[in-house]
Amino acid sequence: MSLYSVEHKITKPTITHTITNKNTFCVLTMQLIIPINPILTLLVLLLVGLKIYNALRILIWQPFVLTRRFKKQGISGPKYRFLYGNLMEINKMKTESQLSVLDRISHDIFPRIFPHYQQWMSLYGETFLYWDGTEPRLCISDPELVKHVLSSKSGFFVRANIRPEFLKLVGSKGLVFLQGADWVRHRRILNPAFSIDRLKVMTKVVVDCTLRMLDEWSEDITEKLMMKKEMDRDFHRLTADIIATAAFGSSYDQGIEVFRTQKELIECCVISLTNVFIPGTHYLPTPLNFRIWKLDTKMKNSIKKIVDSRLQSKSDYGDDLLGIMLKSRLSIEEIIDECKSFFFAGYENNSNLLTWTTMLLSLHQDWQEKLREEVFKECGKDKTPDSDTFSKLKLMNMVFMESLRLYGPVPFITREASKDVTLGHLEIPKGTTLIFPLLKMHSDKDIWGSDADKFNPLRFQNGVSKAAKHPNALVSFSIGPRACIGQNFAMIEAKTVLTMILQRFRLSLSCEYKHAPVDHITILPLYGLPLVLEPLED
Ligand code: HEM
Repeated sequence: MSLYSVEHKITKPTITHTITNKNTFCVLTMQLIIPINPILTLLVLLLVGLKIYNALRILIWQPFVLTRRFKKQGISGPKYRFLYGNLMEINKMKTESQLSVLDRISHDIFPRIFPHYQQWMSLYGETFLYWDGTEPRLCISDPELVKHVLSSKSGFFVRANIRPEFLKLVGSKGLVFLQGADWVRHRRILNPAFSIDRLKVMTKVVVDCTLRMLDEWSEDITEKLMMKKEMDRDFHRLTADIIATAAFGSSYDQGIEVFRTQKELIECCVISLTNVFIPGTHYLPTPLNFRIWKLDTKMKNSIKKIVDSRLQSKSDYGDDLLGIMLKSRLSIEEIIDECKSFFFAGYENNSNLLTWTTMLLSLHQDWQEKLREEVFKECGKDKTPDSDTFSKLKLMNMVFMESLRLYGPVPFITREASKDVTLGHLEIPKGTTLIFPLLKMHSDKDIWGSDADKFNPLRFQNGVSKAAKHPNALVSFSIGPRACIGQNFAMIEAKTVLTMILQRFRLSLSCEYKHAPVDHITILPLYGLPLVLEPLED
């Protein structure tokens, strides 16, 4: 092929004045390619054809076929709309519902947080199909089916595919998103970091960090002997300090960059969730992607600094989470991703559990007094709690269970069918994402009784499995092989912090508090939690 023939072909289209610009381009391209190599041309056309076929399959054919398959089984849902699925409706309903503020005594938060689920459940029943862009989502709240999926070891229900931004936040090579043999290997390595002996050591860290916070509070007390505190802010700082010290032997100051960056990344994830996900677009140099890439690099560098300082300072690396990882065969990349997972899971969820529990105790003063009495009885007025204390704090345990039921930080759990699979009476096609809306499951009157939307910790007096009509009705920490690895640590931390606060302060809601729980990856109070703290008399 000579240069000449190319030039010759380029000049030729000038005779076709009537064709559109687009057509001119195609003709031009064809004329350029055909003389170059007919086989290449065929290949290009085949590739383009395949891409178009694939796009049509995903955008039109698959939604049509899947909707029909589910309809035959009696499952329906909102109509699929080209490319966007039901995203527009979801965004609209969520934006509208966020304008409202709930009555302080209302714990019926599901309709506010997930107005779309509420509406679709009333229209199509509790199990329904909807579309997140072009991806099918089957919403299931039957505890028996949920238990079946979560406790399955078949490998047919795997971690659902998530958006790339989330992988930057939590790490693709960390426990949270690993699958199969890699997940087994990581979980085996990490389990010892949460053994009973390690938890005892961690309890001391929790006590020290909490004492630091309480000392700061005492300094803030004015002559009026009362003070207003933004509890969500202080709990975020406290739980960050605790996880940084207990798991990574660093401190809040060292971990602060990681927490700040993760907070900004959460913002990016929340924004991206309102857009349709088109594969490959996360590589495009958009302003949001630039921000995500920058934050990702920043977070990796901050974590690397913590890892490097441990590598230099201790010969045996220590026995905390970071030490255990460094002594294992995990690569540095895997360790960094695990750090991301634990920094995130270790403070965001715990902070919210403490925030909502103190909100509930401020609202229900009778329960606050009951817990204080129990704390004084089992732990005294100034003794710091230890691992023996926790099993004696029965009422406190019930209050935390009730708080997890009504305001559990994790709003839903997802799984993906890795092949066509049968679940109860349902035939679930490969690739379908199953959504288990925990907030709905935890407030279902058919399961929890007519007072399901009321704060009643006594429902847990005979244990979690007897609190509702189904023994696995409460799944705040999930169940089965992928249940939360930090569950015991979370409960010890929450009990320690609450015990130490109740020993010193009486809590009540500030008149500024606006009751507006929101889904921000975890459930948190949109306008914060301002509380009034009054020191107890000696
Ligand atoms: C109130 C506090 C917490 C709640 C409600 C909570 C809830 C959960 C839930 C529901 C899951 C399962 C998610 C799924 O299956 O898709 C999970 C997994 C996980 N959690 Fe927690 N969590 C809490 C605290 C913690 C803490 C303190 C840590 C670490 C220090 C932690 C680390 C993890 C990890 C690493 C996983 C992934 C486990 C795996 O897949 O093997 N969590 N958590």
